[in-house]
Amino acid sequence: MANPSQQVMRLGFGFAVSQALRVVIELGIPDLLAAGEQSVEDLAAATNADAEPLYRVMRLLAPEGVFTENRPRQFALTEVGAALRSDRPGPRDFIRMINSEAYLAFEQLLHSVRTGKPAFDKVFGSPRFDWLSTHPEQAALFQRAMVALSQGSNEAVADAYDFSRYTRVVDVGGGHGQLLSAILARNPHLSGVLLDLPSGVAAARRGAGGDLPRTDFIAGDFFENVPAGDIYVIKKVIHDWNDERAGLILRRCREAMPTHGRVLVAETLVPPGDEPAQIKAIDVVMLAVTGGLERTEAQYARLFQGAGLKLERVIDTSAPISILEASPA
Ligand SMILES: C[S@@+](CC[C@H](N)C(=O)[O-])C[C@H]1O[C@@H](n2cnc3c(N)ncnc32)[C@H](O)[C@@H]1O
Repeated sequence: MANPSQQVMRLGFGFAVSQALRVVIELGIPDLLAAGEQSVEDLAAATNADAEPLYRVMRLLAPEGVFTENRPRQFALTEVGAALRSDRPGPRDFIRMINSEAYLAFEQLLHSVRTGKPAFDKVFGSPRFDWLSTHPEQAALFQRAMVALSQGSNEAVADAYDFSRYTRVVDVGGGHGQLLSAILARNPHLSGVLLDLPSGVAAARRGAGGDLPRTDFIAGDFFENVPAGDIYVIKKVIHDWNDERAGLILRRCREAMPTHGRVLVAETLVPPGDEPAQIKAIDVVMLAVTGGLERTEAQYARLFQGAGLKLERVIDTSAPISILEASPA
């Protein structure tokens, strides 16, 4: 058992593991090992890398559970490492995305803690989504990462809610469109609207998140206005924004909807106490990168109230994401 100072030092080296993961992904090592064990020399030759530093990076990741080094300098993929293969839906693009701009912003996390403002804006000179608007490659990676992050949760949200009494579903900040696609596939009576920034709409039109029949695509700004519909879904969008901005998105939905309409916010709730939960890491990423936050149920209830809405119920899904259903107050 490591002593306390060894344990905190291990925590402090988290950045090394994180960037090492990115390196093996960028080099395509998990794909090369899919067919079986290989020597680091062969891997280096195939990826145009230097064998010795590649060995050191892979040796770091092996005890973390990504590879096994069964014989000296011969690596095999574990089940965990296999989740990084490019032919599988998985966290690969998410790890690449989080270890680029977000990683650089994190160096200034202290700025966020002192000021409450996103470190990203200080480091990059503009807010995250404005910056992505002028960096199409990173915006496309961001959308792919969102697809990876959403695996299973879109189907879970679409399955957990009864859409039968509505006619038009608006996916606010729907990005790649995977949630809307799952809802429309299960509800042939519904038409859909996908609202996002141009980069999100482009990904959805390309079919990044699946088929989108009966859908209008709107490249717009949800702070300005939101198209008409009777059921609004807003998944993993409210957490990107502070209370003032998040409240404005909800108010725009309230303004556009009929009195029988509903807003469904799909988010992962922060559990109480010191229970371990990945959402607590995502919360701090939100703090530094977008200025947003992950919330408890009580915080969402207050947010709805400030936007002229009332939290009716919280519906658990089969994935680690909940649906908060709100009606006009
Ligand atoms: C964290 S992603 C969530 C995407 C999708 N709903 C999902 O669950 O994967 C946030 C989305 O909000 C979009 N977005 C950010 N600012 C926006 C704005 N002002 N108007 C419309 N969409 C915006 C982004 O382009 C992105 O697709």
